[in-house]
Amino acid sequence: MRPAGPAAQARPARFSPARRLLCEAGGMARLLIVHHTPSPATQVLLEAVLEGARTDEIEGVEVVTRPALAATAVDVLAADGVVLGTPANIGYMSGALKHFFDGVYYPCLTDTAGLPYALYVHGNDDTAGAVRAVEAIAKGMSWHRHRPPVSVTGAPDAAAREACWELGALSALATLERVG
Ligand SMILES: Cc1cc2nc3c(=O)[nH]c(=O)nc-3n(C[C@H](O)[C@H](O)[C@H](O)COP(=O)(O)O)c2cc1C
Repeated sequence: MRPAGPAAQARPARFSPARRLLCEAGGMARLLIVHHTPSPATQVLLEAVLEGARTDEIEGVEVVTRPALAATAVDVLAADGVVLGTPANIGYMSGALKHFFDGVYYPCLTDTAGLPYALYVHGNDDTAGAVRAVEAIAKGMSWHRHRPPVSVTGAPDAAAREACWELGALSALATLERVG
């Protein structure tokens, strides 16, 4: 059966009034980082994303990390922005990230339309299928891709770390914008 997501795209972007009130009262916007990190190379990328997201230059954003196998719908409902990180596995996203989406798709479909998200993918030689798969599901949930994905193949070099840092920092900004 085709998921009900595309119909939801007609809805305007929205966020919880309770979260807006919290932020207006001096609370923090929340950036959720959902990642599958099975190796040193993927750990390097995660750490660069976290460093960017937590840069001192951006205030008012709480950064929460969840391994994809532990992230829940409650985590997503409480978030004002999301970063997704996965290795490419057999031309697709990791089973762990797919498991995450399987658990949050319907519980979050109504209330997270317009949620800003960004993606980083690591692979040996070809990340296109993984990117396509994540973007298809995120589109089905009416999430907003606020910047192009970062794709890294092989050992992460300085440019890859920099791209992930930037992804984290810009995701923190997009999270603030959603609340403000
Ligand atoms: C079962 C399996 C399938 C994989 N499939 C792909 C793939 O389709 N494309 C790709 O670029 N890399 C693929 N890889 C490589 C992983 O993406 C890579 O191991 C992961 O990003 C971690 O990087 P590292 O092994 O260099 O630490 C696969 C790895 C495994 C274990």
